[in-house]
Amino acid sequence: MKFAAVSTALLAALSLLPWSASAADADAIAGKTKAAVCAACHGPDGNSANAIWPKLAGQNAAYIERQVHAIKSGEGRANPLSETMRPMVVNLSDRDIADIAAFYAEQTSTVEKAPPASISLGESLYRGGDAKAGIPACMSCHGPAGEGVASAGYPRVGGQHIPYTVGQLKAFRDGVRTTDPNKMMRMVAAKLSDAQIQALAGYLSGLH
Ligand code: HEC
Ligand code: HEC
Repeated sequence: MKFAAVSTALLAALSLLPWSASAADADAIAGKTKAAVCAACHGPDGNSANAIWPKLAGQNAAYIERQVHAIKSGEGRANPLSETMRPMVVNLSDRDIADIAAFYAEQTSTVEKAPPASISLGESLYRGGDAKAGIPACMSCHGPAGEGVASAGYPRVGGQHIPYTVGQLKAFRDGVRTTDPNKMMRMVAAKLSDAQIQALAGYLSGLH
């Protein structure tokens, strides 16, 4: 009797294994605890209150991981703002970073109210680019709703704070941010004027 009970329990436990080992669930739960230190700036659910701190909610995990590694190493996006974050990530292991990324990827991004004056120019550039100026449609890589392409690690850009987006587009344009594979964003941003950057950032803040 006893043996039968034990083996039944064992069988039940074994049959649960594939689920309890499911990377997504286990990682995100551990990641929530590990992300406590990030909440001060990025918000408890990845929606930051201050517009100079990027929202991480709903961002894809591959992209988050790559950026945390870049900020940790100081390679590719070193600037005075990312310096304020480095102390929080220098001691994180690869596993910690993956868990935290899984947690943020599961959160839901809030959306801002796009300034009306930005929408017309922002939307036409985002959806159609500007063939004469050699600017490709942003949508082709960042998706129609600004959701990004998780499988490729292309970031979500919809709902993001305006000052943060303006800062990043200028950093790509100036060649200060070099984390983009094959200079994908530097080549695009090099062709953008200040006015176009402002319109795009405004439009993106409300895109969802
Ligand atoms: C002191 C405030 C602060 C804390 C705490 C902080 N960050 Fe950041 N984080 C920033 C700032 C500022 C930036 C933007 C840096 C830049 O402009 O390049 C940033 C950028 C990021 C980015 C890139 C976002 C994007 O869209 O490219 C990721 C990912 C990130 N932080 C993750 C984390 C994680 C994970 C933690 C906790 C382990 C953390 N941050 C803690 C301030 C902070
Ligand atoms: C060929 C594909 C491609 C096109 C076209 C493209 N992007 Fe990107 N974009 C990327 C990739 C890839 C990254 C991530 C780079 C990295 O890893 O640092 C990125 C990053 C960004 C970021 C930074 C996101 C963050 O959270 O820091 C912004 C903002 C952005 N793109 C806006 C735009 C806008 C606006 C356009 C159109 C004018 C555009 N992109 C066109 C591929 C593209």
